[in-house]
Amino acid sequence: MLYTFKHMQDVPDLLTEARNVLAMNDRGSYTQPAHGLYPHQWLWDSCFIAIGLRQLDVERAKSEILSLLRGQWHNGMLPNIIFRDDPQYRTDRNIWRSWLNPFAPDDVTTTGITQPPMLAEAVVKIGEKLAWPERRAWYRTVYPALVAYHEWLYHERDPHHEGLVIQIHPWETGLDNTPPWMAEMHEHMLPAWIQVIERLKLDTVINLFRRDTHSVPLDQRFSTIEALALFDIQRRLRRKAYNINKILDHGLFAIEDLSYNSIFIRANQHLQHIATSLREDLPEDLTRSIALTEKAFEQLWDEYSAQYYSRDFITHRLLKIPTVATLLPLYAGHITQERAAKLVKLLENEHSFGPAFPVPSVPLNSFWFQPKLYWQGPSWVNINWLVIDGLERYGYKDHAAALRDSTLEMVAKNGCYEYFDPRDGSPAGAANFSWTAALAIDLLRH
Ligand code: GLC
Repeated sequence: MLYTFKHMQDVPDLLTEARNVLAMNDRGSYTQPAHGLYPHQWLWDSCFIAIGLRQLDVERAKSEILSLLRGQWHNGMLPNIIFRDDPQYRTDRNIWRSWLNPFAPDDVTTTGITQPPMLAEAVVKIGEKLAWPERRAWYRTVYPALVAYHEWLYHERDPHHEGLVIQIHPWETGLDNTPPWMAEMHEHMLPAWIQVIERLKLDTVINLFRRDTHSVPLDQRFSTIEALALFDIQRRLRRKAYNINKILDHGLFAIEDLSYNSIFIRANQHLQHIATSLREDLPEDLTRSIALTEKAFEQLWDEYSAQYYSRDFITHRLLKIPTVATLLPLYAGHITQERAAKLVKLLENEHSFGPAFPVPSVPLNSFWFQPKLYWQGPSWVNINWLVIDGLERYGYKDHAAALRDSTLEMVAKNGCYEYFDPRDGSPAGAANFSWTAALAIDLLRH
């Protein structure tokens, strides 16, 4: 069902509240996603936050991005988290021990995995706020880091040169407990010791030690068994010192994730635009790979269900569980108008992706749907922003406007929460969440 923003009188309040959330989470050069629960700097969070900040203070938006680049590894990798340099977070840093890898930076500690490549989008969105000479100077500043990141994605994450990039941990997708990954994890990645905990129901005891469930109810987060499994996979990556060849040799997780590759395609388009603006030629290998990705993406299409899916890297089996990733090829922007129309139909269906407050992270008619469970049902403002952007570019202006209105209404009514129940818009997860605030500002200014 499509919606219209009925509470225009709430707009000034929303703007003030959103500004306050960003000010509250501002740590000088970067913005933490939420106080307490997420104290560090996250990769795609900072990109979304910069997209909102550019509407308030373009210099601050730039510093949000530049502070991300402090964490870039010498091989080009951008880590999903840069840890706060504070004694109280020693445990977080020690869990990862990024210093085990020779490419890790010397002066900051990070994780050893990445997140969706939203950087090029944020760079271009900031550029839109600058006059040409400054825009070019801005592009010039970030261009080498961007090229290095995209080159790293191809070198390390497309090892067979097939065009699609792999992710090696569910956290890399940013959709931490999204069903296709969780299904694979339960099927193949639960070590014996976690199965014993599950059988003996010891997880209720372990729950007591979880930091995330202190501030957010347990039924809005992934289960303790899943949390243990996620950390177990992380530990196995660390044991290989985040060396991709060793990781692949040991048959750890490797999925060509649909949402990640959709975002990557758009990021490549932005990178090409930046290069053209600077009169630079992208390295030839990179240009070839970029063209291959758009072609290879079509292998993720399943004619029978008329949808795209993520794919197992080794077996090339499609992981046929629909999630909000299903709609992200609209954001990628390279699919045909006919395919786009099929995806839009899903968004119009109130039993699927179109309830009162879309876009649910899992369609309502899915076996997996749980309205308040993180990436297994709730609507998220960052995903809505991506879908709105895609709808606009495919010419679905009314759909885009309706989704923008229902998104703003959801936030104006409830506050800048991390995610929302798609049936009635009620809030869930962390309060005062930065990307919700930033993107609400961006949608308001649109
Ligand atoms: C959660 C989200 C992830 C986000 C992080 C920080 O882990 O799933 O996408 O980057 O929180 O907000």
